[in-house]
Amino acid sequence: MKVPYIDLVAQNKKYKKIFKSSLEDLINKGDYIIGSKVNEFEKKFSNFIQSKYSVGVGNGTDALFLSLKYLGIGKGDEVITAPNSYLSSASSIALTGAKPVFVDVNDDLNINPDLILGSITKKTKAIVPVHLTGKPAKINQILKIAKANNIKIIEDCAQAVGAKFQRSHIGNFGISGCFSLHPLKNLNALGDGGIISTNNKKMYHWLLQARNHGHLNRNDCSFWSHNMRLDTLQASFLIHKLKNLKKINKRRREIANIYKSQLADILKVPSDNKHTYSVYHTYICKTDKRDELVTFLKNKKIETKIHYPIPIHLMKVFNNEYKKNSFPNTEKLSKMIISLPIGEYLTNNQIEYTISTIKKFFK
Ligand SMILES: Cc1ncc(COP(=O)(O)O)c(C=O)c1O
Repeated sequence: MKVPYIDLVAQNKKYKKIFKSSLEDLINKGDYIIGSKVNEFEKKFSNFIQSKYSVGVGNGTDALFLSLKYLGIGKGDEVITAPNSYLSSASSIALTGAKPVFVDVNDDLNINPDLILGSITKKTKAIVPVHLTGKPAKINQILKIAKANNIKIIEDCAQAVGAKFQRSHIGNFGISGCFSLHPLKNLNALGDGGIISTNNKKMYHWLLQARNHGHLNRNDCSFWSHNMRLDTLQASFLIHKLKNLKKINKRRREIANIYKSQLADILKVPSDNKHTYSVYHTYICKTDKRDELVTFLKNKKIETKIHYPIPIHLMKVFNNEYKKNSFPNTEKLSKMIISLPIGEYLTNNQIEYTISTIKKFFK
């Protein structure tokens, strides 16, 4: 039996007919840029995550970059984030001219709120907590720190669409929530896509302009910006995918529960706490025998991944600015983590095979 880590063909099979009719519809209408489908998707997305507004953008990195720009963040400013994320949690900060300031994470891979205070300086303008793996960060503690220090929060929700903290959808706690709709995400396009949630009317109107060259109207513009629009065809696909998101997240949580019940004795497995509803974009376990396990599973045709093998602060882009062990937990975890297949399209047989093979390895 084969267990692929990702199988986008299997995932999209059932949408083929409806996607084809969406494409045909678009060709017939010639409504290619923003238009009614982007508006419809934004409204439906807001309805799903219970935010007042949503603005579709080109990708998750655009969402983070524009949110930072709205706050006027740039050269001379500092923004706090986690060092164990996908690199664009930090690159979006660096691209504004500001400095990403890393804060180590807890064993659940999310930023450790107890360490944030020690990293705040006069230059700190925002915190970008990442809800990594689809598990909400400790947002109540982070909110308290931000409020006390007059700092804004921009949530990196790229991996966590549908996740909840104390029954509220993530993406509603900061000034904005930044979602990626990349093909690998729980809610995904057939290409790149992103969306920003906000409950701030002023920000909403600014974002509508900022994603579209800063256009005030067809012929005028009031500030320079890029073209960061969500593609209309992708929006028309996403409308259909959004209908199934609840089911997708439910199935991922079901697989996570099966893993947990069978593997908790031999691997350190992820789980929710009383405040969180995780959506398992990834299912990351920890073991000291990580590399041997990866090879063993690969030989049995079970594909795994590592999210992420190189912490951001140790990437070449920083030119050895950070010494080893700058963020000890992040660095320790990077050698122990293994992402097991968790796609909602996996069969119970594939999950059982993965579990029994892992058990065999530890025997
Ligand atoms: C945590 C995190 N932040 C930001 C991004 C950036 O999203 P995108 O690839 O859509 O630009 C990703 C996506 O990979 C991500 O996982």
